[in-house]
Amino acid sequence: MSSNSLRIIDLVWTFLKPVINEGDTVMDATAGNGHDTLKLAQSVGAKGQVFAFDIQETAISNTKRLLDENGLLDRVKLFQDDHACFDIYLKAAAVTRLKAVVINLGYLPGGSRQLVTKTENSCKLMEKCLVYLEDQGLITVCLYPGHPEGEMEAKALLDWAGQLQKPFIAHHFKTLNRNKPPSLLMIQKMRVS
Ligand SMILES: C[S@@+](CC[C@H](N)C(=O)[O-])C[C@H]1O[C@@H](n2cnc3c(N)ncnc32)[C@H](O)[C@@H]1O
Repeated sequence: MSSNSLRIIDLVWTFLKPVINEGDTVMDATAGNGHDTLKLAQSVGAKGQVFAFDIQETAISNTKRLLDENGLLDRVKLFQDDHACFDIYLKAAAVTRLKAVVINLGYLPGGSRQLVTKTENSCKLMEKCLVYLEDQGLITVCLYPGHPEGEMEAKALLDWAGQLQKPFIAHHFKTLNRNKPPSLLMIQKMRVS
């Protein structure tokens, strides 16, 4: 792809920015090198909070460093654990709602390509995210079907999202003229009136 083509990881922020307000509580389920965690921390302001998870120590320390360099570490709670257990940490902090969840599947850029998110676990994570999502909240998921586990994972999550009922609305953005391109799955929770 040419360097000026639209990137899914950037597109995510077109949709997240209008949704996240100062003071919101949000989650980055795959902190990685911390780029999304940093943007979330900037978006929620001083009164907001970000919960960020990654199973890899390197990812947690990279994210911590980036937040520290930007003076935003105080509004982020970082956990080196499986994101499918996020509810344990939210309960401990008496948090019952999330305005947005950012999920960027696959492997840590610059890290081992063997350590990827897994289909069954990602499905478990998504189910739990629905329980915590606020009205008018948004979950964004970057899918990478270019490797075998990612292909299975993308298919499972798209099938699952396609079956969701009100108040959830599922969207899928995908480049049409590339082979197995990364794509963006988004789940909105509509206001229940
Ligand atoms: C594509 S990277 C995330 C990139 C990140 N959003 C950023 O801005 O740099 C995917 C991350 O998911 C993490 N991961 C894989 N399985 C996980 C799990 N079960 N729980 C939490 N994190 C996981 C990997 O360690 C990796 O760092």
